[in-house]
Amino acid sequence: MCGIFAYLNYLTPKKREEILELLVNGLKRLEYRGYDSAGVAVDSAEAKDISIIKKSGKVALLAEEIKNRSDELNMGVTVDVHCGIAHTRWATHGVPNEINSHPQRSDLQNSFVVVHNGIITNYKEVKVFLEKKGHHFESDTDTEIIAKLIYHFHQQHPNFSFRELVEHVVQQLEGAYALCFKSKYFPGECVATRRGSPLLVGIKTRTRLATDHVPILYGKDADSNPEHRPHGRGEFPTLPRTGSTSEFEPLEDKQVEYFFASDASAIIEHTNRVIYFEDDDVAAVKNGLLSIHRIRRAGDDPQKREITTLKMELQQIMKGNYDFFMQKEIFEQPESVINTMRGRLNFENGTVTLGGIKDYIPEIKRCRRLMLIGCGTSYHSAIATRQLLEELTELPVMVELASDFLDRTTPVFRDDVCFFISQSGETADTLMALRYCKLRGALIVGITNTVGSSICRESHCGVHINAGPEIGVASTKAYTSQFISLVMFALVMSEDRLSLRQRRQEIIDGLKNLQNQIRDVLKLDNKVKSLAEDLYKKKSLLIMGRGYNFATCLEGALKVKELTYMHSEGIMAGELKHGPLALVDETMPVMMIIMRDPVYTKCMNALQQVTAREGKPILICEENDKETISYSQKYLEIPRTVDCLQGILTVIPMQLLSFHIAVLKGCNVDCPRNLAKSVTVE
Ligand code: AGP
Repeated sequence: MCGIFAYLNYLTPKKREEILELLVNGLKRLEYRGYDSAGVAVDSAEAKDISIIKKSGKVALLAEEIKNRSDELNMGVTVDVHCGIAHTRWATHGVPNEINSHPQRSDLQNSFVVVHNGIITNYKEVKVFLEKKGHHFESDTDTEIIAKLIYHFHQQHPNFSFRELVEHVVQQLEGAYALCFKSKYFPGECVATRRGSPLLVGIKTRTRLATDHVPILYGKDADSNPEHRPHGRGEFPTLPRTGSTSEFEPLEDKQVEYFFASDASAIIEHTNRVIYFEDDDVAAVKNGLLSIHRIRRAGDDPQKREITTLKMELQQIMKGNYDFFMQKEIFEQPESVINTMRGRLNFENGTVTLGGIKDYIPEIKRCRRLMLIGCGTSYHSAIATRQLLEELTELPVMVELASDFLDRTTPVFRDDVCFFISQSGETADTLMALRYCKLRGALIVGITNTVGSSICRESHCGVHINAGPEIGVASTKAYTSQFISLVMFALVMSEDRLSLRQRRQEIIDGLKNLQNQIRDVLKLDNKVKSLAEDLYKKKSLLIMGRGYNFATCLEGALKVKELTYMHSEGIMAGELKHGPLALVDETMPVMMIIMRDPVYTKCMNALQQVTAREGKPILICEENDKETISYSQKYLEIPRTVDCLQGILTVIPMQLLSFHIAVLKGCNVDCPRNLAKSVTVE
């Protein structure tokens, strides 16, 4: 949770107004990560001190505050070198007020300021230590100890460089963090580091980059050991040309801008050249040069960090003609499902190739069992596809909530194959479960939407779902793309099974038609909206179904809860008579998903049980299914597809319904209260 953004311009003149605008815009892109409060730290108007501006609530309020203080901030002045840090918060320690907002500071003079994403688990011990040394704390945050600790080390070691001070600090910290520091003692410098929380830097130069990587310097002696600085101190951008010299132009001048951020979406409008940091990297910018150091050398740690070119387009992270990101993402599904299949599924000859796991398929086929692990919506995509995976792989398939899986210290074996499903690729519970399984020797397969994310990097192999950036906190298009990725995996696993040839073909045909069928389902939008008008004042909504559509019930209920704050429950229709039926009467809003699949008759039994108790369910059923429709006044007709893909079509009305209820209730669709898109705390 929380979004970090920092901007450093070196010999690149910028008005202070532009810098503040840039910081605020960076935060706006990251707002989905947390929106309890926001803040920035920039050089003070006279550039001797640091000014901190913080505001509780959304980034727009911070922008307003900055505008109100524009005289004091000397907006018109141009600076050649400057470092600003910014933060949007999802509160973990301390209520979301201004004092608890970031940047947090070391002392009343703002000597050191820091922004933090993550949780410091040993902050109480460090706080006691610092209090004994005479430091006075003003906030309830864990982060404040970081600002005070660096100040403490600075007082102890006044000759240490900024980077050395940060290295000292992080050695005292336990927990998860991504950090960006600024100090009045080190003007124009920025130091950033991470462990367990994502962080990357975007690099923008006027000329082409002189290199495609930054070498890593190891240990405390990195500065003094000539072996570790063969290339002009190993710093960017003065590295000499490497490889084929004709490929790289040397930099004509030293103008450079750096953008540190929790996520590439905050950077893409400035540059597509980024470096993803690894845990324990300490990146420092001094005199416009970026160097990356490591506190300790991990066994298989690479010697350099590659500069990656982002493929993302700016328009992908804009709302376009839609009022909300979630709405845009729901309506993008005809395209996003195609992007998931593109280059992988050959409809002509019925072959499926998943490049990211191709080499591991023989090993996967020999495994003891498949484990699918995730949280929230990602977990639901596992539930949605488990039955098909069991059918096509003939392997036992366990589906696990990452948090519960860890709580149980579930036995994992070397011959297990563990899938970690995550849109963001940064969800702490899922990442912890991944590390747990990796330690026990299992094969780790990542199913993620975010290139360069921790889950991506720490997996042995994986499938990128290619749904495109998902900004709305409520996951929609990532779900349908995760679903399809897992279906494609099942198809790969069964490619040489003659007995499954027909089944595979009907699934492939179903996938081929999906785009048009999703378009048809989206045409129900107005009808769904009028159902939302009937429902938005109700207190509860029960969603019932079974078989392939049970996952839609869970996912639909999650969407309703998180977006509308209304109670909602996904109920396995087979369980109805074991308890939930007691909830049903003529006033209880109920939705039932009843498709003409192998459990149709059982679903109809459940429907009768509900109507016999005066229940008036809204039905999601198959197009022209007159018999089923005759049981209710209210229904949504969905095109028919193969049973195992039906859940992709039945979930879309639930996405639309939760969206419309949220709008009618005046809820914040893209940023529901108390939530954040990327849950990087356990
Ligand atoms: C869904 O709408 C959510 N906001 C949430 O449940 C989400 O799916 C969950 O936090 C997992 O996130 P991930 O896919 O990024 O790991």
